[in-house]
Amino acid sequence: MSVISDGTIGDQALEDLWDRPLALDLFAGAGGACRGLQTYGHHGLGWEVIGIDADQRKARYYPGVFVKHDLTEGLPEVVDDYADQIEVVWASAPCRFATDLQFARSGENLIPLARDLCQEIDPPVWILENVPGARDHLENPVQFCGSAFGLGVRKHRLFETSFFAHGTPCSHPEKFDYAIGDREAPVTGYRQVHGLSPHAPLTAKALREVIPPAYIHELLDQYIHYAPHTHETAHSADHTPKCQ
Ligand SMILES: C[S@@+](CC[C@H](N)C(=O)[O-])C[C@H]1O[C@@H](n2cnc3c(N)ncnc32)[C@H](O)[C@@H]1O
Repeated sequence: MSVISDGTIGDQALEDLWDRPLALDLFAGAGGACRGLQTYGHHGLGWEVIGIDADQRKARYYPGVFVKHDLTEGLPEVVDDYADQIEVVWASAPCRFATDLQFARSGENLIPLARDLCQEIDPPVWILENVPGARDHLENPVQFCGSAFGLGVRKHRLFETSFFAHGTPCSHPEKFDYAIGDREAPVTGYRQVHGLSPHAPLTAKALREVIPPAYIHELLDQYIHYAPHTHETAHSADHTPKCQ
């Protein structure tokens, strides 16, 4: 993991990164989406991921290149520098303004900003993620549920995509409780219900915001399945079924 705090990347520190296709993770957090992007693909290669987040504390959990930057000020310079290599943009704008959980609703709705940034970058694939309470602010969102992937966490999340996608069904009981224990503790079970390694360096508190990698994998599978001839990424080329 490399941390860049002024929004630019020096040539030397990351020079070996740039012969790989890139994904950009806006509002990167502790890196759930990053872990999904890195591990996507039959060959297990995924993308190199540049994550951008205003909160430097998230860098300690982040498995990609972490750029500390406030996105309300626009995109950092690094995005321009590597624009041609960016194949996927993921954007998880903060959800506090629309949350249904125990937190009081607060903060600004940054979904329109996230959408503008995706459209400004204009990659082959972009995805906006948010919570069910933000439904009215997303265009034709689809909903995923952890139970569709056999995960022990429900985590309903909505996705607005630049490509055709469909939601997943829920297969959990009406009442679905779990206890996460000490929010600062390294809770191995809570990591595993997200489909992460029990050794992933994430506390329960950090995990609360994390998107299970299975959600990212499913969306990218859908992109490749439904639009293989519209746009082709280095990875979709790997996945496109070959005629026998
Ligand atoms: C929902 S979390 C992201 C979760 C992440 N996608 C994951 O899967 O782990 C939203 C993040 O947005 C960041 N954030 C909030 N306002 C921001 C801003 N103006 N610029 C950049 N990041 C911001 C927060 O620090 C937080 O880490």
